[in-house]
Amino acid sequence: MKDARMSWRAIFSIISTIAGIYIGFLTQKPVSSLCDPTECPYCYGDDLCGDVEENKINLRYGSFSDAFNNLFGVKNVYFADYGGVKVVLKKLGHRSELARMTKKASEVKIFEQLNSAGGALKACDPETSELLVEKSRRSFGLEQLWSVLQINSEPLILRIFERQDDWPVPELYGACGLLIVEEHCGQPLNNFRTSDWHDRAFLALQLVEAAVNFTRKHADFRMYLTDISPDNIAVDDDFNLCFIDLENVILKQKLADEDSVHYSEHFDEDDFVYDEGAVCQSSMSDHNVYAVCRLLLSRRAPWPMMRNGLLHSAPPNVVVRYDELFALIEECVDSDEKLSRFYIAEELIRLLKEATESH
Ligand SMILES: Nc1ncnc2c1ncn2[C@@H]1O[C@H](COP(=O)(O)OP(=O)(O)O)[C@@H](O)[C@H]1O
Ligand SMILES: *[C@@H]1O[C@H](CO)[C@@H](O)[C@H](O)[C@H]1NC(C)=O
Ligand SMILES: [Mg+2]
Repeated sequence: MKDARMSWRAIFSIISTIAGIYIGFLTQKPVSSLCDPTECPYCYGDDLCGDVEENKINLRYGSFSDAFNNLFGVKNVYFADYGGVKVVLKKLGHRSELARMTKKASEVKIFEQLNSAGGALKACDPETSELLVEKSRRSFGLEQLWSVLQINSEPLILRIFERQDDWPVPELYGACGLLIVEEHCGQPLNNFRTSDWHDRAFLALQLVEAAVNFTRKHADFRMYLTDISPDNIAVDDDFNLCFIDLENVILKQKLADEDSVHYSEHFDEDDFVYDEGAVCQSSMSDHNVYAVCRLLLSRRAPWPMMRNGLLHSAPPNVVVRYDELFALIEECVDSDEKLSRFYIAEELIRLLKEATESH
């Protein structure tokens, strides 16, 4: 009986792969149809337009899931090959959005946009905006910067927190028109629900480290992620993770002092709330650590995170030996100023390293 089921599954997967390839060939669209470099000066760059023209970047139809996404994907995300490397193409912004945009770029408008409460990328104060524009002008022209800020600021963040400097983010290869090409980082975090507990502990370790690093490690900025969710974290075959949706963030200029620390207040309701004003006013906030504990690690983590949080179903010997780890994660959610979440994060890192290394 079991064998019969296995072979049906194998047959189904062969048929669907063939169907994927076949549909792919029938409808194959060149990547150049996705980018419209005539939309410049709105565009994000043109450094990859040559490679697009020469068909060096091609949509993937080799597996059913890639073919399905590339044909029917609702999000403007495509999976492609670029010189033998798997990459993601993101089409940022639609024609309708372009129509709404004001064409003329100016520094004044850029600063207004950065400081406005409605923007996805929020700069905490005028000093932060100024520094951000100064740093961004190394990679973007004034008009590009204006487009990036109005449509989707992810490329800007990927130039400030670079993969090459070991930030857990995808590498940005370049752009053509409104299309950006970035590293494919793997599958969404929720696909690892049934992975070995020690592999999940290694993911948890990286999440806590990243939360602290985004807050403290960059030379110029503190970055607070305001859209943390399992779909916005991708994991590769070696269980290295990266944050893939960096559109919604708060940036704050990093000043040396860390004395006015903001402690996130925990509410028991299902909605995750944070206080943008309070995050910005402090010299440093525990927002990232709180968000990772509350939304991903805790056994009370809400939907869309996997049931009972990333570290669910620990083997019995782990439960006994690391009871402190599980207690600290819950404390990280509930804690107010009594026990600093940065202290808790350090302890979590220590325990998770021990748990993954001893394995
Ligand atoms: N660099 C990447 N590596 C792997 N998968 C990605 C990458 N970028 C996007 N994806 C996939 O595409 C989905 C949508 O991309 P995302 O940037 O989060 O767009 P949206 O703003 O529409 O949520 C992600 O949830 C993920 O599954
Ligand atoms: C965080 O920073 C530390 C110290 O530089 C580094 O060893 C670690 O790999 C970083 N972790 C992540 C996930 O960025
Ligand atoms: Mg997303």
